[in-house]
Amino acid sequence: MAVNDIQIRAARLSDLDQLAPMLAALWPTSSAQEHAQELRLLLGGKADAVLTMPLTIFVAEASDQTLVGFLEVDLRSHADGCNPSQPVGYIEGWYVAEDYRQRGVGARLIASAEDWARSHRCIEIASDALINNEVSQRAHQALGYEVVDRCVHYRKQLVTQ
Ligand SMILES: CC(C)(COP(=O)(O)OP(=O)(O)OC[C@H]1O[C@@H](n2cnc3c(N)ncnc32)[C@H](O)[C@@H]1OP(=O)(O)O)[C@@H](O)C(=O)NCCC(=O)NCCS
Repeated sequence: MAVNDIQIRAARLSDLDQLAPMLAALWPTSSAQEHAQELRLLLGGKADAVLTMPLTIFVAEASDQTLVGFLEVDLRSHADGCNPSQPVGYIEGWYVAEDYRQRGVGARLIASAEDWARSHRCIEIASDALINNEVSQRAHQALGYEVVDRCVHYRKQLVTQ
């Protein structure tokens, strides 16, 4: 498959059956069925009921209509390292199916997210990656994203249940 055979476009409700398993692959704490429920609201025109800021999902579609990746981007009022005086685009999720990686599909999804953020008057876009996700960190940096912070999350039990 040539990368030019892949089309990047906004997700639609009819993508739900292919999209939900990809969301579950990236965010396995929710099942594909749970992701499908949320996607139904987002893609069915009822996003306003669950969102306060604009959000969109881009998909990468092969010429046989198979979806091979997605990217979810929204606006955040602020993000680490970014100018706090205006909203920034934020990459919430970025995923390419294993067989299609390292062919430029992820870069094209990111380019679409950046265009979307620009169209919402953002001058910056931000993202994050887990500390042990070296592939994601390398890919972000290859695409011009600079590290602004590294963070360790803590928890402490306050009440025994
Ligand atoms: C991160 C991910 C979306 C990248 O998608 P991709 O289609 O492979 O990315 P591309 O082929 O467009 O590569 C984009 C850049 O990252 C670099 N890159 C991608 N995979 C890489 C790897 N395994 N090692 C080193 N660099 C890599 C590429 O070389 C390219 O840089 P270049 O333009 O200088 O050549 C994909 O690896 C993935 O889905 N991973 C699992 C889910 C995940 O971790 N998502 C990110 C969550 S924060």
